[in-house]
Amino acid sequence: MTENDLTPDYIAERVERLQGESAFAILSKANELEAKGMNVIHLEIGQPDFKTPENIIDAAKEAMSDGYTGYGPTLGYNELREAVADYVKEYKNIDATKDNVVIVPGGKPTMFFTMLTLVEPGDEVIYPNPGFPIYESCIKFARGIPVPMPLTADNDFRPDVEKLKSLITPKTKLIIINNPGNPTGGIFEKEDILAIADILKDRPDIFVLSDEIYDRLMYDGETISIASIPEMRDRTLVLDGFSKTYAMTGWRIGYCVANVDIIKKFEMIMVNSVSCTCSFTQMAAVEALKGPQYSVVEMKNKFKERRDWLVNALNEIDGIKCCMPRGAFYAFPDISSFGLSSKEFADRLLEEEGIALAWGTSFGEYGEGHIRISYATSLENLKEAVERLKRFTLKLKNEKA
Ligand SMILES: Cc1ncc(COP(=O)(O)O)c(C=O)c1O
Repeated sequence: MTENDLTPDYIAERVERLQGESAFAILSKANELEAKGMNVIHLEIGQPDFKTPENIIDAAKEAMSDGYTGYGPTLGYNELREAVADYVKEYKNIDATKDNVVIVPGGKPTMFFTMLTLVEPGDEVIYPNPGFPIYESCIKFARGIPVPMPLTADNDFRPDVEKLKSLITPKTKLIIINNPGNPTGGIFEKEDILAIADILKDRPDIFVLSDEIYDRLMYDGETISIASIPEMRDRTLVLDGFSKTYAMTGWRIGYCVANVDIIKKFEMIMVNSVSCTCSFTQMAAVEALKGPQYSVVEMKNKFKERRDWLVNALNEIDGIKCCMPRGAFYAFPDISSFGLSSKEFADRLLEEEGIALAWGTSFGEYGEGHIRISYATSLENLKEAVERLKRFTLKLKNEKA
């Protein structure tokens, strides 16, 4: 029986089309086991294990004292919208003004608002699979047709541009890019982005949602924002925010950069849903963008050190293959040789060894055979997790023998 079978009749059908995020479900199961006394290593949640930098916290305190405690403008304070426009020019080479910017409460609202704004029932939306589960959920909510773009380990989780081309039909309305990607850590190389823009030259009716929330956490390779290509600018919606880059997941603040007509519709959705994004948080976000950036660099260096250690250690385990993720803070190893589904593998790993992590199919059907390890935790925890993983995989091998 699925969760929806238990839903009472009075619940509207549209909300039954929404699906959740497994990382939160795994976290609550892990918490239950911890309450029973089990020692659990948490590798499931996608949030930096670093504190928000002090200068940003101080800016929020100051803004509260200065009276930024009431409603603010629906699209966000001009000071922040301007700071975002300058930031995307500097870091993403996107030509934007404050009029192209809306401040929203987190990265996720841009996904939801994009579907509400652009997708008509029956429109096809191409999205990365394995990919962030909320894409598919929001597409279905808008009655769009989700069309998975498979990302595979043989291709380092880069898009197969020819395959992507073959997925485009007269009904295609939107393509979602997530670069660097969750859960794979793969990137769309610059040449992939240029090739996609080239394919879309003849289809000016297709829009792109470019989720760039991890773009400051990229360790190797070269990429660009598709919105930096002049012909693509007006039909790209850039999703970004403060959660990952500045370790601000709980502050709930992000932004979308898009053409002015789209921004006006986002304004309507904001008015009808949350009114505005938290006022003092916006002032802290100005400090995040304009203040010193060394904490971002330090965090990235730490993640890189962990990535290098973890991926090498995983590849030394008999039966596990892991390609080197180039960005974000996830590894997505192949565990298919053990003959369990990715969910069975993850469930048993939690129950038998106390390692909480997400299974591949929670990111779509093409995630089968993989698990997602978030290395947003200490090297010490990762070392202990690898020891437990070695013990667990040996046990699986003995069971099979
Ligand atoms: C690919 C991707 N996009 C967007 C988000 C959402 O970010 P936020 O927490 O700011 O809503 C996440 C969070 O995990 C993510 O992994």
